[in-house]
Amino acid sequence: MTTHLPTADDQDPDSSARTSRLRAALLAAAFTADGLLDLLGAPAYAALARSETVPALRATRGDGPLETLVRLFLLQRPVPEARVRAALPVADCLADGWLVRDGDVLRATVDVRPYGGPEGQDWWIVSDLGCAVGGAGGIRGAGEDDRARLVLGVGGASTTLAGITARRPVAKALDLGTGSGIQALHAAQHATRVTATDLNPRALRIAALTLALSGARPADLREGSLFEPVGEETFDLIVSNPPFVISPVRPEGARLTYRDGGMGGDDLCRTLVQQAAAHLNIGGYCQLLANWEHVAGEEWQDRLRSWVPRGCDAWIVQREVQDITQYAELWLRDAGDHRTGQDAYAARYDAWLDEFEARKTKAVGFGWITLRKSGAQDPSITVEEWPHPVEQPLGDVVLRHFDRQDYLRATDDAALLAGHFRLADEVVQEQVGLPGAEDPEHVVLRQNRGMRRATKVDTVGAGFAGVCDGSLPAGRILDAIAQLVGEDPVLLRDRTPSAIRMLIEQGFLEPVG
Ligand SMILES: C[S@@+](CC[C@H](N)C(=O)[O-])C[C@H]1O[C@@H](n2cnc3c(N)ncnc32)[C@H](O)[C@@H]1O
Repeated sequence: MTTHLPTADDQDPDSSARTSRLRAALLAAAFTADGLLDLLGAPAYAALARSETVPALRATRGDGPLETLVRLFLLQRPVPEARVRAALPVADCLADGWLVRDGDVLRATVDVRPYGGPEGQDWWIVSDLGCAVGGAGGIRGAGEDDRARLVLGVGGASTTLAGITARRPVAKALDLGTGSGIQALHAAQHATRVTATDLNPRALRIAALTLALSGARPADLREGSLFEPVGEETFDLIVSNPPFVISPVRPEGARLTYRDGGMGGDDLCRTLVQQAAAHLNIGGYCQLLANWEHVAGEEWQDRLRSWVPRGCDAWIVQREVQDITQYAELWLRDAGDHRTGQDAYAARYDAWLDEFEARKTKAVGFGWITLRKSGAQDPSITVEEWPHPVEQPLGDVVLRHFDRQDYLRATDDAALLAGHFRLADEVVQEQVGLPGAEDPEHVVLRQNRGMRRATKVDTVGAGFAGVCDGSLPAGRILDAIAQLVGEDPVLLRDRTPSAIRMLIEQGFLEPVG
């Protein structure tokens, strides 16, 4: 079922022209992220993202071109040839293998999912049939070999990584484990050269289709594991949404290439992090999603800290933790194992728990790892838990985090007190206390953007933050507050820098100049 793939040969002018005509037809039919939402409505659109197709099937009973394209490319339905002709250049699609003829109906050979770029671009992400949404659980009738090589479309992890990626113009970017090519497509907008690698050769062919159909420059596609395909090469940006799932290596080995790394525990993610430093230019960033084990008797933060390679600053954010049973169930369902019969399911579930027991794994964390190669002797490494909602995209927030770390590293307390700061945009103050009470019990500063952090501050902290508009040095503001609250200004200057550092580190205050 997964053997047929279309071709889009960017070296062949005829093939390029056919791909352009296909793209024009998709646009003309409004087969775009907005067009899809308009046609399906929000509930059916959201249901599709949960691999539920019935609402979308009901919404596409009409015979317009958009309905035809949704049925063909997202719902895997055969459509009568005459109807397809009204929507697509059928001869081109048959020539390049996007469609195949089956009697008097046509079928798509791959999923094509409209995807809106960050600047309103209309893009399309190609993936294996049944994989535009959800995991391998959405696939019916494929043999184990085919399933093992499935190439998935856009998932929550894909868009999370795309959102947190620092989007500076760079010369060279690497997308490691490119899959559908979604990260390479984003990188192609701000990197002069993009290299995309994958262990699965099928993924490389699909990534090439995503780039061609979306009108992006082709990437340098290389097959192989981890950094092996790039030798000693270095990059300004490395992104990876790797096969991070911590799954049992026995008795079956890695079952699904898109998620099972085939190394024990979280070794694949650790190896990626540790080897990244050798492939980054100075100032370059490596950003990846990862799962990590919470091992009995070890602090997870210490484990993660020990992964960070020398010469790199790091910001590691744990977004979620699952106990091992929730974790095993999530990924058993992703593989569709819950439909394989009770005994087989129980045996697989057991294998997951055996592996966790043997490794003393108590829980699994999921999060973001960003490395910046600074070459610093005293790297800044932040490992934190932030499970609350954030506002994507966060690429600029990531860049500013490291800028602030540089500032704090280079600024002693005397320089800090001589510095000027301004309150970051969209920070508000909340007062918490009993109704009717004259004074609040405590004051919270809250960011309404980016990481959407909240932090408790005392009255001095709240007063200080409120006055920070960049005009007065911090020390002078503290002197004025000391006078107001009747505190010794020397003592206040002495005790406040650590609180100011925290407000800067977390992005509530920004150094001016
Ligand atoms: C979770 S998918 C990510 C796909 C895509 N980059 C995204 O963000 O949606 C992981 C990809 O890594 C690939 N992969 C698996 N093992 C790998 C390895 N050892 N080295 C490189 N890529 C690998 C898989 O084939 C798959 O395409």
